[in-house]
Amino acid sequence: MASDKRLVLGVAGFGTVGTGLASILEENRDWIIERTGREIVIKTILVRDVSKKRTADLPAGATLTADPQELLNDPDIDVLVELMGGIEAPKELILKALNAKMHVVTANKALLAEEGFELFRAAQENNVGLYYEASVCGGIPIVQTLRESLAGNKVNSLVGILNGTANYILSEMTTNGLDFATALSQAQELGFAEADPTLDIEGFDAAHKLCLLIRLAFGKDYPFAKLPVQGISKVDPMDIEFAREFGYRLKLLGEVRNVDGKLEAGVFPMLVHHTYLIARVGGAYNAVRMEGNAVGPVFLHGLGAGAKPTGSAVLGDIMAVARDCAPNNTGFVAQVPDAAEIMPPQDSESCYYFRVMVPDQPGVLRDLAGAMAKQGISIAQATQKGQDPIGVPIVFMTHEAKASDVQAALDDLQKAGLLLAEPVHYRIL
Ligand SMILES: NC(=O)c1ccc[n+]([C@@H]2O[C@H](COP(=O)([O-])OP(=O)(O)OC[C@H]3O[C@@H](n4cnc5c(N)ncnc54)[C@H](OP(=O)(O)O)[C@@H]3O)[C@@H](O)[C@H]2O)c1
Repeated sequence: MASDKRLVLGVAGFGTVGTGLASILEENRDWIIERTGREIVIKTILVRDVSKKRTADLPAGATLTADPQELLNDPDIDVLVELMGGIEAPKELILKALNAKMHVVTANKALLAEEGFELFRAAQENNVGLYYEASVCGGIPIVQTLRESLAGNKVNSLVGILNGTANYILSEMTTNGLDFATALSQAQELGFAEADPTLDIEGFDAAHKLCLLIRLAFGKDYPFAKLPVQGISKVDPMDIEFAREFGYRLKLLGEVRNVDGKLEAGVFPMLVHHTYLIARVGGAYNAVRMEGNAVGPVFLHGLGAGAKPTGSAVLGDIMAVARDCAPNNTGFVAQVPDAAEIMPPQDSESCYYFRVMVPDQPGVLRDLAGAMAKQGISIAQATQKGQDPIGVPIVFMTHEAKASDVQAALDDLQKAGLLLAEPVHYRIL
């Protein structure tokens, strides 16, 4: 089938995602024409260093440049595809493209989460699309699902494994008994983790995605800087093993719930009962479970990163432009949402897992239970692991407790001199 009108792309970035996009465009060329009636071609690719040796071939007819103006000033280019990462340089480029009335497709969650509103405003003022399916969970179509398919629902809650690197590390620690450092270096060898893995393992990448999901699901702005975030770099294999004995898996989750109109949200390592679908999401996979007031529970699962899964999401957005779909960037009439009413993190309630190191002597369990009871926290089950005159771990699970009461109980235990090491506590989903 011949295309009557080509859609011409200027692509900023020819790394993992840029090369993935180019390869799917080549591989699925006829299929794309069959679906959109148009041939989609890459004309110019912006990179930092044009002389760098590339592992992937350039798309036929495309040229490399280090000058952003070659993308912005070319009247042939219909769409700017931003796949370079970072904040300042892509922000400037995207703003210029939107103001030049070009549609923009991006995979950049950090930019959209931290500085996105200026871009959404510019897209609205210029009546062009700002598409970002690839920015949350790579190949999983979560943006489209929340913005279009579930638009008629009020979302009550959403929880997800939003970072494949962290999930891979925790899965390896759980399945193969690795410690954190070994699992991380294995992830780096396999290309699942960056040389600097901070954003992934400290939970910030998941937090960027959670901010975008909150906007899409609730139409509210929960500022990135206010999200409580805890990563996995301090996770001890001992807790993974104890959790497993209780029937739970430890997962890094991003969660948001609507509690009487207030949003309770954060990114934390959490215990998930092994019978829950999300507990079974292993390796570098991502998953999101959300609950709408009409649809009920919905569960999406797939690859959250990688050249082709992420390229697939980018291409879906480009094909929406090729079909002349009307832009619906935020999914709401307002392009800049109202501030969310935020539930103070200390007021949030959850069941908890605790591990405390205490002297192996009579009365300790009673003192522990007493400190918890003083704050109104009730213990659901408890067990002492092993015997050692120096100290033993006691592991216990609580019924629902308020975060501020948990902190007060831990402070009391510290003051009473009962704890031999830093206590560990995780929420239970
Ligand atoms: N990798 C994934 O699986 C994945 C998944 C979802 C979302 N994303 C997002 O997709 C984006 C791209 O990620 P990636 O993994 O493909 O990155 P990457 O492999 O590091 O590639 C980045 C590309 O952008 C170019 N670039 C970077 N800064 C530039 C600048 N200031 N001016 C011109 N060119 C510049 C680089 O040029 P050189 O080649 O000359 O260095 C390189 O070609 C990021 O926003 C990332 O968060 C990635």
